[in-house]
Amino acid sequence: MTTPDFDATAEQLADLLRWYGEMGVDAVVDDVPHDRFAASFAVQVQVPVSAAAPAQLEQEPALPLGDDGFTPTLPQRIRPPLTKAPATVAARPIDAASLSADAAIQSAREAARDATSLDALRDIMDRFDGCGLKRTASRLVFADGNPAARVMMIGEAPGADEDRSGVPFVGKAGQLLDRMLATIGLNRTAVYIANVVPWRPPANRAPTDLEVATCLPFITRQIELAEPEFLVLLGGSAMQALLAGKESITRARGKWVDYPSGSRMIPAMPMLHPAYLLRTPFNKKFAWRDLRALADRLGLPPTI
Ligand code: URA
Repeated sequence: MTTPDFDATAEQLADLLRWYGEMGVDAVVDDVPHDRFAASFAVQVQVPVSAAAPAQLEQEPALPLGDDGFTPTLPQRIRPPLTKAPATVAARPIDAASLSADAAIQSAREAARDATSLDALRDIMDRFDGCGLKRTASRLVFADGNPAARVMMIGEAPGADEDRSGVPFVGKAGQLLDRMLATIGLNRTAVYIANVVPWRPPANRAPTDLEVATCLPFITRQIELAEPEFLVLLGGSAMQALLAGKESITRARGKWVDYPSGSRMIPAMPMLHPAYLLRTPFNKKFAWRDLRALADRLGLPPTI
């Protein structure tokens, strides 16, 4: 990171660093800043022009859409001008960018498929470089608890405490999760815990759709290999990633649905995320109901 080209006081520099932190810049990945947009425009993909192509070149081609299905992936104003070429056309760099996103997801799928055990999966994920979060996270946060447990719980992504320790759900939300489990007589020897995204997003921001899509083959394979009897999806983000539904977590929580895993269906229940319960304690009554529903499915006796 370069120093500003003005005479900054220590206090101003401290303010600047604080601002960087708030904006999510909490790790130095190089000594100098890079203009990634400029770099991506330099990528030229040669596309053969078919007989029909010259007519198409007259029109504005549709931009590939972003993850929401509506928004072009790059702002229109920074699109390079469309030029005719006799034999080849310089493709817009956006194609290269979306190709590499597809390639990352595809390589995650292939890598995950190769794993024949949870240990092998952890090794494969540790070596996987297709998710940008790995560069800013301290380590992979793979799982905690008992891989042979009847229940697997899945959260969104590690936070700062998990990133430091390499263990999911050890911060304040994780401590609440432990207390919640205790209310139905369970602890971490009776559940297996993981996250959809196993690397911490900087400054605890939500993972992007691309980060989730890239990590999805890994958590999907982790579920297949752990073969839990029941799945609990903690929070809307885990629910939407694994059930691909659009319903809000407040509506979907507590309802059992079938999650297809390999050749079988696993009963899965979305629950409110413990971090959300910390912010809205009046919602704990719903978590209590959902935990009781889980306890009933497990055949556990009432604890109070
Ligand atoms: N929140 C999550 O979703 N996962 C963790 O591991 C910790 C907090």
